[in-house]
Amino acid sequence: MNANVTQKINKINASLKSYFAQKPDLIKSVLSAEEYSVTAGGKRIRPLLILLFCEACNADSDSFIDVSTSIEMIHSFSLIHDDLPCMDNDDYRRGKPSCHKQFGEATALLAGDALTFTAFERIYDAAQECVIDSKTAITLVGILSAASGSYGMVGGQIIDIESENKQIPLEVLKELQSKKTGALISAACEMGCVLAGCDEKRQNAREYAYNLGLAFQIVDDILDVEGNFETLGKPIGSDSENNKTTFVSLYGLQKAKELAKEYTQAALDALDNFENAEDLKELTSELLIRQN
Ligand code: IPE
Ligand code: IPE
Ligand code: MG
Ligand code: MG
Ligand code: MG
Repeated sequence: MNANVTQKINKINASLKSYFAQKPDLIKSVLSAEEYSVTAGGKRIRPLLILLFCEACNADSDSFIDVSTSIEMIHSFSLIHDDLPCMDNDDYRRGKPSCHKQFGEATALLAGDALTFTAFERIYDAAQECVIDSKTAITLVGILSAASGSYGMVGGQIIDIESENKQIPLEVLKELQSKKTGALISAACEMGCVLAGCDEKRQNAREYAYNLGLAFQIVDDILDVEGNFETLGKPIGSDSENNKTTFVSLYGLQKAKELAKEYTQAALDALDNFENAEDLKELTSELLIRQN
């Protein structure tokens, strides 16, 4: 990570932390569970993509740190719910016991719910503070809600759960992965273009995101097989334990690695449509060789 990207991650982390500075007594437990999961670590790829796409469209992103954390809140909610016993039943996340292990299932469920709504409140707050105009706020809400719901991440999660213990065809696997992981990644890239006032670049951003989303999830599936628990911060072997179909189970490690490379290259090619995409290119290449 170069200095610009590291600085952005630090600012994203500080913004997320500051949201939880106040915790009124009666609702302290749910806020503590939210804070626990959100501030446990995480690569912050999605808010970073918002900021870097904004810059790739030649706009300054400094004032958009707070609004960029909206998508990290949605992502953290998806992880809290993804780990629940009724979903993937995983006990560790971001190097710590999963939210439900630490706070119990009811509180974890509610923490995920609360983060969903707080995400949209972050966008409203940015409009209230005149950081963005109302039309931009509505567009961001539209992109983020569509990417989160049944036609986006949640839709991918239901296909994922209902595909357990089955062999699913490649087309269904791609649809599953592009929804459960790709949808939020695509939303992030598009939100960056919208914040920069570059609506006309959204299609190019989607093309990049489709390819990065697939590469990102294939690497996640590879790490589930050959990652290291300490570095990854989540259990190894969760997918095979749950009998998931992944690119690895379908094609084997070697071919999955080749595909991750191919999709990464396609994502890099799509960045040629942007003038100021050096940081994005670096990040995209780093994500292919990530260890967590
Ligand atoms: C994990 O996402 C879940 C997937 C969508 C593959 P990340 O790999 O971005 O997780 P964090 O945010 O860095 O913990
Ligand atoms: C989850 O995919 C994607 C989400 C929407 C959270 P995984 O189930 O593979 O994610 P990890 O491996 O638990 O992070
Ligand atoms: Mg899952
Ligand atoms: Mg999981
Ligand atoms: Mg996984």
